[in-house]
Amino acid sequence: MKKFRIGMIGAGKIAEVLHIPNVLNSDLAELVAISDPNADRLQYITKKFSLTNVKVFRDYKDIVNGDLVDAVIVAVPNHLHASVSIDALEHGKHVLVEKPMATNSIEANRMVESARKSGKVLMVNLSQRFFPHNQKAREIIQSGMIGEIRLVKAVFGHSGPENWTQNVGWFFDKDKAAFGALGDLGVHKIDLIRYITGLEIEECVALTATLEKNANVEDIANGVMRLSNGALATLDANWITKGLEENYVAIYGENGTLKVGQTDPTKIDLYMVKPIAYHGEIVLKPLFTNEDPYWKLPVADHFIKVCLGLEKPIIRPEDGSISIRIIEKFIESNRLQKVVKIND
Ligand SMILES: NC(=O)c1ccc[n+]([C@@H]2O[C@H](COP(=O)([O-])OP(=O)(O)OC[C@H]3O[C@@H](n4cnc5c(N)ncnc54)[C@H](O)[C@@H]3O)[C@@H](O)[C@H]2O)c1
Repeated sequence: MKKFRIGMIGAGKIAEVLHIPNVLNSDLAELVAISDPNADRLQYITKKFSLTNVKVFRDYKDIVNGDLVDAVIVAVPNHLHASVSIDALEHGKHVLVEKPMATNSIEANRMVESARKSGKVLMVNLSQRFFPHNQKAREIIQSGMIGEIRLVKAVFGHSGPENWTQNVGWFFDKDKAAFGALGDLGVHKIDLIRYITGLEIEECVALTATLEKNANVEDIANGVMRLSNGALATLDANWITKGLEENYVAIYGENGTLKVGQTDPTKIDLYMVKPIAYHGEIVLKPLFTNEDPYWKLPVADHFIKVCLGLEKPIIRPEDGSISIRIIEKFIESNRLQKVVKIND
């Protein structure tokens, strides 16, 4: 069978640890091209993965113009997500784009519209949906086991992007990143609150600050949200957590509580009061550990199967644009110092 042809746009850190190795391991697809304006980065990546048969370009347009690829993965600084994705969609390519989907709702809506017009797949890499403990938590909640949801607490904090990529400058620059910890980390949890509970976020009140980084974006954001069933949810997204990474969700229902990845990243702690008092844990085999050379997440695999019509998408383009809108509302709430409705 002819393999599905993928072009990688951006040869930075997430391309290195997630996208390139997973495409190279795919039975259905092949990596045919890669682009990055940074020649050193291209050289490093092509050497590291021995990409001898992969075409290498400085300008991504050389990938999207013409018939070199069927799909692209867009993993560039945030301010380029919309223009590059729309360009690729308009050239008839399927697009997997990194989060946050765009720098504002107008851009995000344009991307959704462009995908609709082109009939091609547009998927946003809201990668935490693929973690087994998050999938399992969604399943437990959908089963009705913990009953009506009353409260969700979501936390994602680490010491900042300077400990992730060498190319950190753009993360701290509002013109390029648009958002700080909210767009980098908060976006995952905002999406996960919706994905795991099946509820919508209807209003929020938030405070943001820049306490440590030499940046014009927030390095800490905390907010409270009201969900569509009246429940409350809290979000703590920050780049000021030292000595550990905190990355979890806790869900409090009328019959019990789920701590998802809070006491251990591979574990769900389940506390029930009805029908019987019970405390148990579900231990899930991790998809990868820090010892693995790359993230074994089925993001590219799922995207490829959706493009080939083999799977239904677990992330719709609108999921990306809704999370951008909620982030914008956090920032608006901080600016106005009041509760704001998400859909006003
Ligand atoms: N889903 C996740 O879990 C996850 C994790 C980390 C990063 N990300 C996202 O991935 C994106 C990239 O982040 P990163 O950490 O890899 O950053 P990075 O700075 O390491 O890499 C970005 C790369 O894009 C390149 N680039 C800039 N302009 C380009 C252009 N016009 N064409 C092609 N390449 C271009 C840069 O030279 C750089 O090599 C960001 O949007 C980030 O939020 C997502």
